[in-house]
Order: sequence, then C-alpha cells, then structure tokens
Amino acid sequence: MMLRVSAAAVSVVLAALGLMQRVSGQAYSPGQTALKFRSQFKTEDFVFNLAAAKAGDAGKGGELRVAAVAAMPSLAGNGVSQALYRLYPCGMNSVQMHPRATELFYVINATELHVGFVEENGGRTIENVLKTGQLSFVPKGLLHWHYNAGCEDAIFLSTFNHEDPGVLTIVNALFDINSTSLQAAFNVDADQIADIKSSIPASPVPGIAECLAKCGQEAVDPCELKKCGENEVCKTVEGKAQCECKSRHVRDENGDCVSDGGFGSG
Ligand SMILES: *[C@@H]1O[C@H](CO)[C@@H](O)[C@H](O)[C@H]1NC(C)=O
Ligand SMILES: *[C@@H]1O[C@H](CO)[C@@H](O)[C@H](O)[C@H]1NC(C)=O
Repeated sequence: MMLRVSAAAVSVVLAALGLMQRVSGQAYSPGQTALKFRSQFKTEDFVFNLAAAKAGDAGKGGELRVAAVAAMPSLAGNGVSQALYRLYPCGMNSVQMHPRATELFYVINATELHVGFVEENGGRTIENVLKTGQLSFVPKGLLHWHYNAGCEDAIFLSTFNHEDPGVLTIVNALFDINSTSLQAAFNVDADQIADIKSSIPASPVPGIAECLAKCGQEAVDPCELKKCGENEVCKTVEGKAQCECKSRHVRDENGDCVSDGGFGSG
C-alpha cells in the first residue's frame, strides 16, 4: 500500500514536471536548462543535410527524407521538424496522420499535387490540387494523403510543429487490428481481409496502372507489392496479384497452405 501511494505521488510529480517542461518548451530531463541541453552538441550538430539524407521509406512511389528528433537530436525541445518529399509520377504519400503535429507544406515543384484531409466525424473531406509555389496544411491528427497526379516528380517540404510529429499510416495500421473485429467493421469475410492486408504496399505507394499509362510508364508488377504467406506463391491473374499455395500444398480450413502429404497432384 505504502509503495503504491508513493509510486502514485511520484507519477503526479513527474506529470507536473512534464507539464512545466512542456510549458517552458523543454523536453529534456528534469531540472535541465535549454542552455545545458544544447551544450552537449557540437557546432555541426545544428546542421542536417536534408536533401542528401538517406531516403527513409521502403515505398516504391517516392522518397521521404525526415529531419525530426531521431535523425537530428539537437532539435529536441524546439517544437519543430521538417520532411522533404519526392513523389514519383502517380506516386502517393499514403493515407496517414501525425498524432502530435500540424503539417504545413510548401510545394517546391509539382504540376498536380492532390492533398486531402478528412475532418472528424460530421466534418468534410477537403481536397485541393496544388502546384509549384503554393502552400497548404493538414491540421494535427487528421487523416490525410498527398497524391502526385502529374507526370513529373512532385517535391514538397513539410514543416511540423513538433520535433517528433509521429506518423500513423492508417491503411497499414488498420490491418494490425484483429481480423475478427475487422470482419465486423467492414462486413466482409476473413479471406477478403487477408487479401487486402497482403496487398497494401509500403508508403509512398506507387501509382495505379491507369495513371502511370497516362504518363507513359509501366505499372509495378502487382506481385512485387503483394506479401504472400508461408508456402504461398504469387500469381498475376487478370492484372491482379493472387497468393496461391505452392506445389504439393493445399489450403486448410484456417486458410493456411499446408503440405498435401504427398497425395495431391500439386
Ligand atoms: C521542376 O520540374 C521540372 C520537370 O522535372 C524541371 O524541368 C524543373 O527544372 C524543375 N524546377 C525546379 C525549380 O526544380
Ligand atoms: C481475435 O479475436 C477473436 C475473437 O474475439 C479471438 O478469439 C482471437 O483470439 C483474437 N486474436 C488475437 C490474436 O488476439
């Protein structure tokens, strides 16, 4: 009992300290000043080679370079960060949200950059088409996407009002939810949930075939984006990737591909 009370007291004090630090704009250890925090960094630690940084995303639809607190620790406590995006023709910064920051972005070079965000329930979906020289923003915490409908790379620089804005790529995150719950939420069966889950590419996602054809470019092989399960192989059927059991394997009642025990024709 004593222990629980003191633990609670400690957490109240820590929460109060956290609040004080946030109010004074310092996100460091208790009692530390901004000056002391900054003193640990070398002169060059205040510079980040954003354009030359390694692209941080696996997606085939573009490149994303981020100067936030993980890559640039000297930013801590300053409440800002930036990201430089290059979306290839038809590429999209997939549907996402930043839990801690509003995103203000300036279009460095684009002919047709779509940006949309969805307001909370009861609100609107606001979509605009931007070109070079324009600026827009996405309010903190709202679902949004950037889609390059142009046939040139679209380049934009985003500024966040947090040194650690965080990103939740909704389409991917959604499928981390228990399939049973998703079946109820979507009113579809387990196979349909599994099919969609295995189809979702990493962000930035490549464009759809229709858009790429307009730009005179080939679509990415659907099987290159599909994540098939164990003992499965990907086959393209009518332009759509499908996961099938590899030879001498059959699908069991759970939908998994298992050995046919040597009796099947495979
Ligand atoms: C914008 O992109 C076009 C097409 O790729 C290129 O020709 C032009 O030089 C770019 N402009 C700037 C300011 O980067
Ligand atoms: C998913 O939900 C079902 C139904 O409630 C449950 O039986 C199952 O254990 C859950 N799966 C996981 C991995 O928690």
